[in-house]
Amino acid sequence: MTFDLTSEQQLIQATAREFAETQIRPIAAEIDRDSRFPHETVKRMGELGLMGMVIPERWGGSGAGAQAYVVALEEIARVCASHAVVMSVNNSLYGDPIARFGTDAQRERFLTPVASGHAHGCFALTEPQAGSDATNQATLAVRDGDHYVLNGCKRFVTTGREASFALVFCQTDRAKGHRGITAFVVEKGTRGFTVGKTEDKLGIRASDTAELLFDDCRVPVQSRIGDEGQGFKIAMTAIDGGRVGIAAQAIGIATGAYERSVAYARERRAFGVIIGEHQMVQWMLADMAVAIDGARLLTRKAAALKDAGRPYRTAAAMAKLFAAETAMKVTTDAIQVHGGYGFIKEYEVERAFRDAKITQLYEGTSQIQKLVVARHLLRGDHDGV
Ligand code: CAA
Repeated sequence: MTFDLTSEQQLIQATAREFAETQIRPIAAEIDRDSRFPHETVKRMGELGLMGMVIPERWGGSGAGAQAYVVALEEIARVCASHAVVMSVNNSLYGDPIARFGTDAQRERFLTPVASGHAHGCFALTEPQAGSDATNQATLAVRDGDHYVLNGCKRFVTTGREASFALVFCQTDRAKGHRGITAFVVEKGTRGFTVGKTEDKLGIRASDTAELLFDDCRVPVQSRIGDEGQGFKIAMTAIDGGRVGIAAQAIGIATGAYERSVAYARERRAFGVIIGEHQMVQWMLADMAVAIDGARLLTRKAAALKDAGRPYRTAAAMAKLFAAETAMKVTTDAIQVHGGYGFIKEYEVERAFRDAKITQLYEGTSQIQKLVVARHLLRGDHDGV
């Protein structure tokens, strides 16, 4: 693994940074305040190739690979975590599994419009009783001729309201537990498929988090991704890639807050000097820089393993765990550096603090990442570490 980005990755980084600074920054506070999905800027991200970075060009993506993806995602999240999660779900949780497990006909129909940014995809695994305990799926899909009939409810689905395509996990054979879970793509507009409530959230408020409802929803057999019973593996494989993306999102959030803290420490004066002269502030800034760099190295390593086609499940869990904890600590300390000003919206570290929290929760809580890491260590299966 090299520390240097290739010239192509540097170009992608510069493009993402410029786009985030010029197009996203001016609206970031407002879309957070109003919980408004940013259609225009997300569309432009599609035009820049950011919505299908890990998808081969043949299927509408830009085929840039996981390392370029985390570099770009970090730049977007540095300015707005909501844009970053929309990009992450489209790429990792929806696009990647369709590219990996779909047939060419399915890729053509369900992937190309999403990877090229003309439509959005979402990933519907979580249910009211199945969060961390993801094997505990209750949504049922019963075969009826050349269709399946879906009944059930999915919760906390990122981009659930805006997506044209949902990758939905259902039980096709309850007796087999997680080995009876099957994946389907359900298209918006299919009879019996409706969007329920959209959640009012602490952070990432401009991305929508919705409930998806299935009531005798008939889905053709051609929309089944993979074989019956392969669904849980498909979901977990997708989430491995997703965790690398969320790690990059967390690093971006932390970096934005850290940069603001350094700038503030250079200008704010207390006790006759700039606050950066005070050792206690210096320590907080130094801790932020070290943790961010550590999280970035872990994340680039996981992405490099993925690009090399090597196992990276444990590396992804480590990166996501460390980056999420870093984001929460850095944004908490960023408010501390700002004092009372950090507590008000004008200084933006308040938004970073709210946005950081979700990175410890979605795509597996920090506790689930520890479980994944510990299991692999104890089994002697040190994949990607
Ligand atoms: N890749 C492939 N297969 C995997 C896998 C992986 N990463 N992890 C587990 N599996 C397989 C196992 O090999 C096993 O298969 P077999 O039984 O056929 O051998 C099967 O899945 C079950 O695994 P476990 O026995 O380890 O199951 P468990 O219930 O003890 O633990 C878990 C599973 C690790 C806790 C898992 O349920 C998990 O990761 N939970 C967290 C769920 C999660 O991340 N949800 C996020 C929702 S999506 C989201 O947040 C999106 C968003 O909005 C942005």
